[in-house]
Amino acid sequence: MIRIAQLVMITALIFITSVIQAQKAPKNVQVLKDLSIKEIRTYMKAVSSGIGEKCNYCHDMKAYDKDDKKPKLVAREYLKLVNEINTQVAMINKNVMKKSKLEMVTCYTCHAGSLEIVTEE
Ligand code: HEC
Ligand code: HEC
Repeated sequence: MIRIAQLVMITALIFITSVIQAQKAPKNVQVLKDLSIKEIRTYMKAVSSGIGEKCNYCHDMKAYDKDDKKPKLVAREYLKLVNEINTQVAMINKNVMKKSKLEMVTCYTCHAGSLEIVTEE
């Protein structure tokens, strides 16, 4: 009897662990593919403060993987833009900037904490 109880416990434990892991893995990422869910959350905090909007501007807070808000789709294109720029930045740092390295570009670089971009005509 003890053996069976142990087996049930172990099976339950394996099941719970797999459920937790499934919740932790990102479900719908096209750009931030190399990041864990924890790293995505940290990145997203920088996105939010960079453009001055809360998470719910782009997300249904009950399902972050959904693509049902237009700003999220726009933001995904900007994530690609930032990655492409930073690939260039890394190249410039490697090939040209020997001492004073360029800083990586973020949403804040252009947005400075607001969606409204200030430009001078
Ligand atoms: C300006 C829009 C925007 C804001 C604001 C934003 N996000 Fe995101 N978020 C995105 C985009 C776009 C993706 C998908 C990235 C990709 O495709 O690689 C994403 C993906 C995620 C994911 C992964 C979901 C999955 O399983 O696929 C999580 C978790 C997440 N965001 C959490 C947050 C949190 C927490 C905040 C607030 C601190 C936040 N986001 C603010 C645009 C945003
Ligand atoms: C190279 C500069 C630059 C960077 C970097 C940048 N943006 Fe933008 N973004 C712009 C410009 C310019 C606009 C258009 C503003 C306008 O027309 O009023 C814009 C517009 C947007 C809009 C649409 C706003 C609206 O009113 O519909 C969103 C959402 C956005 N950016 C999110 C982001 C996010 C998220 C990041 C970082 C991943 C980012 N941007 C990085 C320049 C940039």
